[in-house]
Amino acid sequence: MSDALCAAAIAAREHAHAPFSQFRVGAALEDSSGRVHTGCNIENATYGLTICAERVAVFKAISEGAREFGRIAIAADTGDLTPPCGACRQILWEFCGDIEIILVNIQGYRESLRLSGLLPRPFDASFLK
Ligand code: THU
Repeated sequence: MSDALCAAAIAAREHAHAPFSQFRVGAALEDSSGRVHTGCNIENATYGLTICAERVAVFKAISEGAREFGRIAIAADTGDLTPPCGACRQILWEFCGDIEIILVNIQGYRESLRLSGLLPRPFDASFLK
């Protein structure tokens, strides 16, 4: 069920450090063993060093040894469903492949997508030859 994963993304959003945008995002990435790795956006006064919730979740998971992933849930503060930014799409493709992406809003409304639908014709390591 995606209920627990969506709840984890909504909860992770509470830890966001977003004093500049006030836009809090949470992500919950499930690995192949069922373990959930969460992330929130972390902003910086230099703005450009801000990192999105999705990348925090991916990098935390990788740093803890996880290598295969099935799904990621992404929750923002708004009623709108918030899709991952371009940089996060690229990182998700690199580490998670054509993962299921569940967008959820704070009312619990959700939509399920595939990363390949959000990132057509991606660049990846297969071109490095
Ligand atoms: N943000 C994310 O965390 N994930 C996204 O996919 C879109 C944007 C964050 C970055 C920044 O802290 C705030 O949302 C506004 O862009």
